[in-house]
Amino acid sequence: MKEALLYEGKAKKVYQAKDRTGKLVLAYKNDATAFNGEKKSSFSGKGRLNNEISSRIFSLLHDKGVETHFIERLTETEQLVHQTEIIPLEVVVRNVAAGSITKRLGIEEKTTFARPLVELFYKNDELNDPLINDEHAFILSDVTRTELQEIKEKVLKINEELRKIFRDIHITLVDFKVEFGRLASGCIVLADEISPDTCRLWDITTQEKLDKDVFRQGTGDLIEVYEEILRRLEDKQ
Ligand code: C5P
Repeated sequence: MKEALLYEGKAKKVYQAKDRTGKLVLAYKNDATAFNGEKKSSFSGKGRLNNEISSRIFSLLHDKGVETHFIERLTETEQLVHQTEIIPLEVVVRNVAAGSITKRLGIEEKTTFARPLVELFYKNDELNDPLINDEHAFILSDVTRTELQEIKEKVLKINEELRKIFRDIHITLVDFKVEFGRLASGCIVLADEISPDTCRLWDITTQEKLDKDVFRQGTGDLIEVYEEILRRLEDKQ
């Protein structure tokens, strides 16, 4: 199913799909990293869980009219996607304050924002993915003003749909990060993954953290909480 390895990231490997021009195989790894690679570990089963969780979420978003790179889940740890040129922006949406914004702006954790807050980070490991503004985004990526506007509209729609998906499984979507890619046609679509690696997910009642923060903060068992997310998604479908 797969041919040449094109790229290896911290959580996934990207292969050219065999005999399928314009398509890629994403292979999810068991590795977990935090603080831009300073903290590293490997968890047996993590690749399978994130592949399954992300595949389910991308399918649900597709059903709601969100255009994505996702085609199908191929194996426990692999999925087939349309090839895109990744736009080097990490687009974060925050509904509730947590993580970097609490330190950067002194906002107390758990503060709910009146409106979802969109932030742009420049996807660059060497620079530690710095926060940037729209003007920087035009210089650093080849998006036009109209396309950046389109990306912001898309990410707010994705936020609305994700909030519903997670509310249905009794989870508050605190924040998340997504990436967009450009198809050969020029269209910009949702790419990369949506999983407990890339979202903050809190149980609505107990506020228990069911995401990668348990690894970042060393407060819980990563596999147990990722399994809990998958179990709740499975129960709903
Ligand atoms: O660290 P920060 O609070 O800015 O993260 C915001 C959201 O983006 C979190 O859900 C985090 O998991 C996600 N994120 C990510 N990849 C990064 C940085 C943040 O998925 N490189």
